Amino acid sequence: MEPKVAVIGATGAVGDVFLRVAEERNFPVARLKLLATARSAGRRLTFRGEEIEVEETSEAALADSDIVFCSATSEASRKWGPVVRERGGIMIDDGSAYRMEANVPLVVPEVNGDDLEWHEGIVSIPNCTTTPLVMALAAIRTVAPLTRVTAATYQAVSGSGAGAVRELDAQLRAYGRGEPVPAPEVYPHQIALNVLPQVDTFDEDGFTKEEAKMRNETRKILHQPDLPFAATCVRVPTFVGHAEAVHVELAHDFDLGAVREAIGQQAGLELMDDPANSVYPTPLNTAGDDRAFVGRLRVDPSIEHGVIFWCVSDNLRKGAATNAIQIAEELIRRGKL
Ligand SMILES: NC(=O)c1ccc[n+]([C@@H]2O[C@H](COP(=O)([O-])OP(=O)(O)OC[C@H]3O[C@@H](n4cnc5c(N)ncnc54)[C@H](OP(=O)(O)O)[C@@H]3O)[C@@H](O)[C@H]2O)c1
Repeated sequence: MEPKVAVIGATGAVGDVFLRVAEERNFPVARLKLLATARSAGRRLTFRGEEIEVEETSEAALADSDIVFCSATSEASRKWGPVVRERGGIMIDDGSAYRMEANVPLVVPEVNGDDLEWHEGIVSIPNCTTTPLVMALAAIRTVAPLTRVTAATYQAVSGSGAGAVRELDAQLRAYGRGEPVPAPEVYPHQIALNVLPQVDTFDEDGFTKEEAKMRNETRKILHQPDLPFAATCVRVPTFVGHAEAVHVELAHDFDLGAVREAIGQQAGLELMDDPANSVYPTPLNTAGDDRAFVGRLRVDPSIEHGVIFWCVSDNLRKGAATNAIQIAEELIRRGKL
């Protein structure tokens, strides 16, 4: 099947990578509409060697699209999701607007692709820190059930969009020239040469919205609504690639070799773990790759049945564009468009 496709947010950080991933994977496209706001209307983007003019998002522009990929804002998702659904298309949404709604599957195809069976016209992809985490947890729980998860993240600025990439770049360049570093606009503090223990805004319980998303989305994808979970999400001055240090408690004793094997066998996940030779995933050595990576796998001696690992994935690829395209591929394969 060759679907008619529209991309809302085609000019953004995810939209840009989306077009490249669709080319690389030879994703079938009968017709492509590239949409954004009036600010970008008229810009030309290249797909498969052809220039396509960006249009302002509108009902007319979305008409007769079979699949609409939305990587824009929650407001845009809320506005256009029902329009796409009513016209019989499917929206695959990168944002957080629908992720926790009961009739919206939240999907990482290698983990819970079966949830696509009950979609009602909108499918969400998880937050970019949740995706690699649930892939690793899904593998580990084939060895022993999960009883508790805690994580600390190290998140690249591209996770906040193209504006944040420009902000870090401008601050680093000014620092390199010995000039005053420009004041922050995207983040509450300077991000260059700094580390911010805040991703998104704070809720009343002291956690940030990003930390709540990680907890709620992990529970939904793994179908473990009561899984004890706590995270601290941190923004670091890297451009691409989110890293996480994850501590997991299991229900019973386990063999670390079996965990290693389970991670090695998990589709989409790659074990990169040879500490004696300083081999482990980093944002730089995994950027541009569609897989998620795990390293530093070890027993946690501070608790019973504990395991610790480090995971990294390209937030714009597996954390966003690649996962969205894999969902579309899976929908086509299952005849669920
Ligand atoms: N960055 C990541 O790692 C990542 C990972 C997973 C999910 N996501 C989600 O993906 C979405 C996009 O993120 P991003 O990083 O690509 O952001 P971005 O670089 O800021 O790009 C935003 C895009 O959305 C468009 N847009 C903004 N408001 C719109 C509206 N009202 N109607 C239509 N288009 C609109 C913008 O168009 P203009 O160019 O016209 O302004 C631009 O193309 C967000 O929901 C984000 O949470 C991002």
